[in-house]
Amino acid sequence: MKNTFGQSLQTTIFGESHGPYIGVVLDGLAPGIEVNDDFIKEKLALRRPAGAISTARVEADEYTFASGVFNGKTTGTPLCILIPNTNTRSADYDKAGRVARPGHADYTAMCKYHGFEDYRGGGHFSGRITAAIVAGGAIAMSALEKKGISIGTHIYKLSDLTDTSFYDIKDYLPEVIANLNKKSFAVINNDIAKDMIEAIEEAAKDADSVGGVLETAITGLPAGVGEPWFDSVESILSHVLFSVPGIKGVQFGAGFDKVCERGSSFNDALRNEDGKVITATNNNGGINGGITNGMPVIIKCAVKPTPSIYKEQKSINLNTLENSDIAIEGRHDPAIIHRARVVVDSVCALAVYDMLAARFGTDFFTQE
Ligand SMILES: Cc1cc2nc3c(=O)[nH]c(=O)nc-3n(C[C@H](O)[C@H](O)[C@H](O)COP(=O)(O)O)c2cc1C
Repeated sequence: MKNTFGQSLQTTIFGESHGPYIGVVLDGLAPGIEVNDDFIKEKLALRRPAGAISTARVEADEYTFASGVFNGKTTGTPLCILIPNTNTRSADYDKAGRVARPGHADYTAMCKYHGFEDYRGGGHFSGRITAAIVAGGAIAMSALEKKGISIGTHIYKLSDLTDTSFYDIKDYLPEVIANLNKKSFAVINNDIAKDMIEAIEEAAKDADSVGGVLETAITGLPAGVGEPWFDSVESILSHVLFSVPGIKGVQFGAGFDKVCERGSSFNDALRNEDGKVITATNNNGGINGGITNGMPVIIKCAVKPTPSIYKEQKSINLNTLENSDIAIEGRHDPAIIHRARVVVDSVCALAVYDMLAARFGTDFFTQE
């Protein structure tokens, strides 16, 4: 499908960066889920640009529910969230003379939509659309939290700086996630935050951008969720994660870091601890045969440096296809990663909700 994801819970996104609205439709939600505006606003605030490490385009994200909410709870019929775009500066894009931004979707969008696409601010390909994903994801996330499931993401790597990994934390992961979810710049080791922020500021000063790796943990998932082949937990999660603009790699568990080792070091020993089956290590990232094993699902996502940089670059003119140089204008993030982190949480929440609803039924999430 084109702009819709999911089976039991279907998420549809729509809108363009400089159009009147962006939005999301959630179809298949359980009736009776509490819709907590403070929680939705908290999540939107984590995505909102702030300071020199983000774009100067700041939007209030004042959303409205066009449908699907009654007396503060979901009705179970399609829930539509509309978010107006208020801070647009479309002239920046007219001036560009239609030269494709290297690394962005300007050229591929033209190939697919034959020049009819709304290219202002990246149009439908803009990171702006992720505000709608975050608003919709917050509904799914609050339902998951009621079931004891937590999702949290931190900046594991940025430039050559590395944070503490979830793999270094064993017993108190849900507390670490709760703490991370309060931070606007999400790192586990607070000492590394200043250096990472400086690295983003340095890139910005050089008219450049910087990327890195996000690490996500999903805790509290019961064992036995997922499907063996095409709808494996890895397939569903990577499908939705690769839909987030700027994500260029997804790893589950120890993945690329450890697969060249021997089976004896990669295998996770099964143990019975006080009647609960656990694994002694978690190199498989909580998934075996496409199905959850009850251990935390651990994911790493490679987030590329923002494509729109202010340095002059070589490209092509989209009208003539002739070689042309481009000096990008407009307002852009010198790094995507710190804003993408809550988008990653949100798409994971929508996907996990979908898989649980498929396994246990829509009313699994209905709250009395
Ligand atoms: C939260 C967020 C903010 C983004 N901000 C920008 C931006 O300011 N400038 C830009 O060129 N790309 C930005 N991007 C990335 C582009 O949307 C993305 O690179 C582009 O659509 C091409 O898609 P691809 O990188 O997945 O191939 C952002 C992405 C996200 C998730």
